[in-house]
Amino acid sequence: MDTGLDGKVALVTGGASGIGLAAARALAAEGCRVMLADLDPRTAAAELERAHPGAVGEVVVDVSAPAQARRAVSAAVERFGRLDVLVTSAGVYETQGVDGLSDEEWDRTLAVNLSGTYHCAHAAIDAMAVNGWGRIVTLASSAAQTGGGAGGPAYVASKAAVMGLTRSLAKHAGPKGVTVNSVVPGLIETPMTDRLRPEHREIAATLTLVGRNGTPADVAAVIVMLASEGLGFVTGSHVNVNGGLVMD
Ligand SMILES: NC(=O)c1ccc[n+]([C@@H]2O[C@H](COP(=O)([O-])OP(=O)(O)OC[C@H]3O[C@@H](n4cnc5c(N)ncnc54)[C@H](O)[C@@H]3O)[C@@H](O)[C@H]2O)c1
Repeated sequence: MDTGLDGKVALVTGGASGIGLAAARALAAEGCRVMLADLDPRTAAAELERAHPGAVGEVVVDVSAPAQARRAVSAAVERFGRLDVLVTSAGVYETQGVDGLSDEEWDRTLAVNLSGTYHCAHAAIDAMAVNGWGRIVTLASSAAQTGGGAGGPAYVASKAAVMGLTRSLAKHAGPKGVTVNSVVPGLIETPMTDRLRPEHREIAATLTLVGRNGTPADVAAVIVMLASEGLGFVTGSHVNVNGGLVMD
C-alpha cells in the first residue's frame, strides 16, 4: 500500500521511547521528516538521524505545560516548514488503586495524558489547516474499556477522556481537512510496562486471542495506516490494537 507519506512532516510526542519511538521510525521509513518531542529526545533523535540523515528534529518539551505543548508544534513547523501528521504518544502510567493515589499523581496523570494531548492537537490542527490536510493519531488504552489491569483510576480516566476528546477534535478538524483518530492498545511491551510484575504481563498475554502481548511495532503499523493519504474518510474512530483482548 502506498501510504502517500513520502515528504510529509510528522511530530511525535513521547517520541523518545516505546510506541512513540516505533511510530517515529515507521513514519521515517515511509519518507516522513520527523520531529521528536519529549522530556529528553536526544538519544532517540540521534539514533533516528543516523538512519535518516537530515530528516529528524528534536524538541525538549513537557506537554503538560500548554505553552510547551504548543512549542512542540511550532518547532516542527520552524524546522521543516509545515506539519502534516501528529502522534500524541507522550504519556504516564500510575498503578496506585483508588485508595493509594495521591492528589499530585491524579493531577499529573491528567495533565500529561489528557491536557497534553489536547494542547498539542489543538495547535497542530491550526498548523495543518494552512495546507488543508492533516492526520492526528492519539493514544488511548484498552484500560479505558476494561477499567484497567494494572493501571489506576487516573490512567483509566485520562485514556477514556482521550477517546472522547478525539471525537470532539475530529468534529472541529474535519472541515479543515484534518482527521483525528485514536489507537487503543492493549498491553504493549515497552519501558512503561517493563515495571509491571512479570506474572501480570504473562496473565495479560493469556487474555488475548493471539497468546501474546503487543510490540511497539504492532501499534506503529496502525498509526501509519491512520496517518496515510488513503484513510481520509476515517475520523473520530477508535482502533483496537489488543490481540483480541477487547472486541467492540
Ligand atoms: N505500553 C502499553 O501497554 C500501552 C498501552 C496502551 C496505551 N499506551 C499509551 O501509549 C503511549 C506511549 O506509551 P509507551 O508504552 O510507549 O511508554 P514509554 O514510557 O515507553 O514512552 C512514553 C514517552 O512519553 C514521554 N513523556 C512522559 N511524560 C511526558 C511529558 N510530560 N512531556 C513529554 N513527554 C513525556 C516519556 O519521556 C517517554 O519517552 C502512552 O500514552 C501510553 O499511555 C501504552
